[in-house]
Amino acid sequence: MKLAIVGGGSTYTPELIDGFARLRDVLPLEEVVLVDPDEERLALVGGISQRMLAHAGHPARLTTTTELVAGVTDADAVLVQLRVGGQDARHADETWPHEADCIGQETTGPGGFAKALRTVPVVLRIAEAVRRHAKPDAWIVDFTNPVGIVTRALLQEGHRAVGLCNVAIGFQRRFARILDVAPDQVQLGHVGLNHLTWERSVTVAGRDELPGLIEGRLGELAGDVHLAPELVSGLGALPSYYLRYFYAHDEVLREQRTEPTRAEAVRAIERELLALYADESQVEKPAALEGRGGAFYSEAAIELLAAIHGGEAERAVPRVVNLRNDGVLPFLPDDHVIEVPARYREGRFVAESVAALPDDFTGLISSVAGYERLALDAAVHGGRGRVLRAMRAHPLVRDHDRAERLTDLLLAENARFLEWA
Ligand code: G6P
Ligand code: MN
Ligand code: MN
Repeated sequence: MKLAIVGGGSTYTPELIDGFARLRDVLPLEEVVLVDPDEERLALVGGISQRMLAHAGHPARLTTTTELVAGVTDADAVLVQLRVGGQDARHADETWPHEADCIGQETTGPGGFAKALRTVPVVLRIAEAVRRHAKPDAWIVDFTNPVGIVTRALLQEGHRAVGLCNVAIGFQRRFARILDVAPDQVQLGHVGLNHLTWERSVTVAGRDELPGLIEGRLGELAGDVHLAPELVSGLGALPSYYLRYFYAHDEVLREQRTEPTRAEAVRAIERELLALYADESQVEKPAALEGRGGAFYSEAAIELLAAIHGGEAERAVPRVVNLRNDGVLPFLPDDHVIEVPARYREGRFVAESVAALPDDFTGLISSVAGYERLALDAAVHGGRGRVLRAMRAHPLVRDHDRAERLTDLLLAENARFLEWA
């Protein structure tokens, strides 16, 4: 099979390549193409990727190209993992919201909204090229954030797409280690929207281990997600660390005002990584890559591609993906994109049913979903009025004057990325 990786110049790519080498029996790749507009990045990342495959004795041919159409032509699957504006735009997303007393984050709140506005048109153009030039049944696997909004943009345009994030697989691996079982024995009761999720159960051999884990390892688990133990025990569920931007908003804002941004930290990691990638003697994934947030994203991607391409037997447990709601969360529209366990069957992903959620979860999910819908509308159609309306709808904003201020800041910081601004 031919896999195209759009945003292949990402410093994350060797993580995927490492997965291809380790999981070669699961996913029989013949050709991998890294597509990226940045030639320098392509040369460095392509170089180490080729050396890694050769070192592992993987038979796949790896090429690089700056030409999107050439890259996706005849692809069996296309992975999209790009960041419009790079770490500079991310640094901006992580700082300007502070001027209106709001947290700055690359996927959550006003910063995530800016990212959505920059990203949706770019990903839709890529998807059109996939529709025209890739194999007719090719899937788009979207890692590009904000995954919920981007996946919905793709589905709305009729693309065969699924969204993926590593938060769930991270929890699955973590619980498996604690419980001393194989990861695919651990079934997560994972529910919500991308980067707005809770683990409500952790089932192993038919038994929910989460109540016992919360009782026995409360401090450790709450510490993992940087939330108060009393909050976690009160919820009876384990939120992802992205919920910290809601449950501990003011605390995060105080921290962010004095600490360097994540973009700055990532820039430093990337400098180190690129120097290693340039080193011809480097033939394996550098340990420094563990400093990035993408742990297990290669496993998540490869297992998903294997399921789509029939290389995988029926799994013991479903995998968590971003897909159309279609009634699974009855309080959301059918066409909303949710993040829940699902199985791939007869050419599509089918979500498992989800037990009724408590009112605090449905309330927060509903309000963020409302924002996400308005944000996509703004990303597709443009216009300050649409941006303002989505901004105000975000539960971290709400106040009209603050929304006005944030809208002005967003537009000033992102004008060069927005065709309509
Ligand atoms: C996690 C999230 C991703 C996000 C990444 C950021 O993996 O699930 O959606 O892109 O963290 O990692 P970084 O190293 O760029 O901060
Ligand atoms: Mn790039
Ligand atoms: Mn994610």
